[in-house]
Amino acid sequence: MKNILVTGGAGFIGANFVHYMLSRHDDYRIIVYDKLTYAGNLDNLLPVQDDPRYAFVRGDICDRMMVEQTLRDHNIDTIVNFAAESHVDRSIMDPDAFIQTSVYGTYTLLESAKNLGLERYHQISTDEVYGHIPAGYSSKETDKVDPRSPYAASKASADLLVNAYHITYGLPVTITRGSNNIGPYQYPEKAVPLFATNAIDNLPLPVYGDGRQMREYQYVVDHCEAIDLVLQRGTVGEIYNIGTGVEVENLTMIEILLDSLNRPRSLIRHVADRPGHDRRYSLDIAKITALGWEPDHSPAEAINKTADWYRDNEWWWRKIKNGDFRQYYEAQYGDRLRAAAPQE
Ligand code: NAD
Ligand code: DAU
Repeated sequence: MKNILVTGGAGFIGANFVHYMLSRHDDYRIIVYDKLTYAGNLDNLLPVQDDPRYAFVRGDICDRMMVEQTLRDHNIDTIVNFAAESHVDRSIMDPDAFIQTSVYGTYTLLESAKNLGLERYHQISTDEVYGHIPAGYSSKETDKVDPRSPYAASKASADLLVNAYHITYGLPVTITRGSNNIGPYQYPEKAVPLFATNAIDNLPLPVYGDGRQMREYQYVVDHCEAIDLVLQRGTVGEIYNIGTGVEVENLTMIEILLDSLNRPRSLIRHVADRPGHDRRYSLDIAKITALGWEPDHSPAEAINKTADWYRDNEWWWRKIKNGDFRQYYEAQYGDRLRAAAPQE
């Protein structure tokens, strides 16, 4: 029996990870610890809510007493930390919660893991810590971090803390750095679910700048499988990149999405770019593939499957888009869209 604390498990990747782990490991117990910010959603955990191997605790990772109480109450041996503010655009509007959760919150979890002598602390990190990557190169785990947004800097800071706890205190840690995940339950502020749900409603798709930025869009379940592999077979103290090895321009992603949903290219609107927008991320994934993993989905398969899910699950996203999201959308896109001309 393993007892795993999944922090941020009510969010997009965390919830998919909970589903994945309970479906693959009969002998695991999963405790989700989540503050339920705007991005946390118990609907994401409905498929497991009656599973006796699952429990939910509402709490903040910055609250050390509550974290340690939960670790004791559930006899936790492993923490997998997904909890973070995760949206780059929101980090540009207001970085405060990003620093609080990823820097102070990660420190709190590390202290608790050290004090209670846990078997493993695993940090979910991102390819954004490497910053913009020039054409022809792919980031290796040994490359220096060079974050360029408040979000990326908060994540890189967390990675440095995790590494320091391993070196200084011998805490058994691992880190994975994933590329752009897509799939079920992603909050519709992120590009793919925003574009999919706007397209379903025949609303314009706000494309930043020329739309030729490059991302490695990967299916979230593939990412979860790789994290599980690192928990089982990864070397303590090591970092593993998790991506597809295939970069896709945003405009290509949008064309696949529009075709999948049977919507016209005329929905595309080029709007003012994101400040400091990283043009390209690219991961060298040789280290994780050497552990025996490879993605099951090509980027096009991942985009098509995601479009299908949003088309079939309006019950999930429509109430989000009809709520506080409206104010966010107006603040983020109102002026930009009013200033943008429709595509010829
Ligand atoms: P998300 O925004 O969907 O979910 C984040 C979750 O963390 C939410 O449930 C939220 O309630 C919770 N949370 C936030 N602050 C908290 C706090 N102080 N205490 C407890 N819970 C808190 O994010 P996501 O897209 O699922 O990303 C999960 C993790 O994976 C993040 O660490 C992110 O940096 C990383 N990551 C994301 C991607 C991606 O493409 N989405 C790629 C690579 C890495
Ligand atoms: O690369 C991993 C990262 O991927 C994760 O660490 C982050 O948590 C996650 O949010 C994601 O960050 P991005 O900034 O790459 O994802 P986002 O979905 O916001 O944007 C994807 C691309 O689409 C990016 O080049 C910006 C562009 N974009 C995004 C939005 C929201 C647009 O053109 N228009 C938009 O409205």
